[in-house]
Amino acid sequence: MTAGAKAALRVAVLRRREALPEGERASSSKRILAGVLDLPSYDRSDVVLAYASFGSELATDEFLGRVLDDGKVLLLPRVGPGGLGLYEVRDVVRDLAPGTWGIREPVPNRCPDADPASVGFALVPGVAFDRSGRRLGYGGGFYDRLLSGGLTGGTPLVSGAFEVQVVDEVPVGAHDVPVDAVVTEKGMYPRNGRAAFL
Ligand SMILES: Nc1ncnc2c1ncn2[C@@H]1O[C@H](COP(=O)(O)OP(=O)(O)OP(=O)(O)O)[C@@H](O)[C@H]1O
Ligand SMILES: [Mg+2]
Repeated sequence: MTAGAKAALRVAVLRRREALPEGERASSSKRILAGVLDLPSYDRSDVVLAYASFGSELATDEFLGRVLDDGKVLLLPRVGPGGLGLYEVRDVVRDLAPGTWGIREPVPNRCPDADPASVGFALVPGVAFDRSGRRLGYGGGFYDRLLSGGLTGGTPLVSGAFEVQVVDEVPVGAHDVPVDAVVTEKGMYPRNGRAAFL
């Protein structure tokens, strides 16, 4: 059963990620974000979807600031009744507040809502990945719905992750949306046939 295999893999990989020493997490985060920022598809995009990191995740704060400094529109998700809604964030300190599960989310009365179809480049979170872009999330199906729903098909989907999050094969179902590349502190794993879009 995929659900059971997914649950077991989530526990194992989260344990490895949480065991990373703080200093290594910080230095790897910088390398990973530099790899993402180097992509031509990031450069080309005027509207970037990203996320505010929490816990032992890759620290994305510098990336969020950089998107704004680069003069791009920054969109972050917020959990709503119909799934994830996207909102435009112009100030990463003042526009965010802890929401569902304590994750920082855009404050709706400060942030205009945005059309997912406008996203030109997406940084996608996740727990585990394989080298073919298969992705395991936190188990809500929120990103699978967002990525298969509102975003346009050609939008580059890129995940940043620590090498300890990369496994040989992530179990997936028909609803699971793969990412086009996984960038780690050691390099990049582009999905077959998608390197030209990155
Ligand atoms: N597009 C979809 N339509 C209907 N149900 C979905 C869709 N995507 C995911 N689900 C459901 O959501 C549940 C969780 O899916 P899954 O285990 O793939 O989550 P995940 O990928 O870990 O989470 P996330 O996408 O938030 O990172 C499953 O029961 C799945 O059937
Ligand atoms: Mg999934």
